[in-house]
Amino acid sequence: MKPLPLIRTATSTLPAALVSFAIATAAHSADLVMVSGATGNSLEVTQKIIDIFEEQTGHTVEIRAMPSSTTDQFAQYKLWLSAGASDVDVYRTDVIWAPQLATHFIDLSEAAADVIDEHYPSIIASQTVGGKLVALPYYTDAPVLYYRADLLEKYDRPVPTTWAELEETATLIQEAERAAGNADMWGLVFDGKPYEGLTCTALEWVVSAGGGRVVETDGEISINNDAAVSAIETAAAWVGTISPPGTPNYSVEEARGVWQNGNAVFMRNWPYAYALSRSDESPVKDLFEVTTLPSMTEGEPSAATLGGWNIAVSRYSENQEAAIELALFMQSAEAQKIEAMEGSHLPTRPALYEDDEIIAAQPIIGFMQDVFQSAVPRPSDVTRADYNEVSSLFWTAVNSVLAEPGTAQDAFDRLEIQLTQLRGTGW
Ligand code: GLC
Repeated sequence: MKPLPLIRTATSTLPAALVSFAIATAAHSADLVMVSGATGNSLEVTQKIIDIFEEQTGHTVEIRAMPSSTTDQFAQYKLWLSAGASDVDVYRTDVIWAPQLATHFIDLSEAAADVIDEHYPSIIASQTVGGKLVALPYYTDAPVLYYRADLLEKYDRPVPTTWAELEETATLIQEAERAAGNADMWGLVFDGKPYEGLTCTALEWVVSAGGGRVVETDGEISINNDAAVSAIETAAAWVGTISPPGTPNYSVEEARGVWQNGNAVFMRNWPYAYALSRSDESPVKDLFEVTTLPSMTEGEPSAATLGGWNIAVSRYSENQEAAIELALFMQSAEAQKIEAMEGSHLPTRPALYEDDEIIAAQPIIGFMQDVFQSAVPRPSDVTRADYNEVSSLFWTAVNSVLAEPGTAQDAFDRLEIQLTQLRGTGW
């Protein structure tokens, strides 16, 4: 059989013919189709919310499961939207996409006028492009450091506040645990594969080293500096020492796999991993805590990248009225409470941080409120339509250093040239 034509994206290869085939022939018995990425238990939780919506409204909704990686989703959605595909009515969108996909989504400001004030204004602002509200907030996101409280106690080590301290503790515990018979123990797991997740992770190293945020708010390309180079080299030295050699191919789910099996002392990950790590089947259930991410340079504040997901309605949808109803339901307190309690996803509604049931189910919620409010945005606001390209150049450069330590200066010299070319006279 002849191989299908392939679309190459930065991190994966999507079969183009399969994609268009799926669009053309998808069983379209539901009133609405919503596409949604799936990390952890995300789809199960979303399905619960959809079940309630269906019951309350009589509409039927098909959730079309998409890859976990936001990068793969973006490539796919851009194709569909550029083709004006009407099969998908509702998109679950990453916080960074609003300026890039704005023209394909309808303005929700009128439909959501009564509820806009119930959300954090900064989140509404992040989804507003040229006065148009392109998506409604679903949950916000910011990563933390997960650590094995039992092991820190066993080896009498403090919770680290710098990456140097973490490296020292990770080395010590990893060696001692291996000597004691746990050959699979690692010090630290994180997502090092070339995708948007690595942009988030590496941005935290660079910002907390005092090395800027790759592209500054005034458009200055700042990444090629000594603090940034040294931050990436520090992280590259972890690969194969305190972090598994496969780290340059890890997404957050591979990192969580090692961690949740009890084989890592520390993990950098988003809050979704909290509910899963505390589930009854989790071997680390009662053994861990979370705290803010360490700083690269002592004295610099810790940095966590701002993430989050939203709900957008396609302007090509043939059932926009029902699609808007669904988007409104997804941003409701009822839906966000389910996301918070079952998926440990952070509400975008301040009132829910006072909700006793959420606090009881997910005790980190109050702490996370502070973390996300001081989280660092990616340069998607300033680079706008070019953001995916900017991010892809950055994650490619960082990933190459993780795979080959000692090359960060060369990688960032090149990156600076590439970004300057991409910017042209814009930004
Ligand atoms: C999380 C964040 C999202 C980010 C992604 C990167 O899902 O919420 O904003 O882009 O991780 O992998």
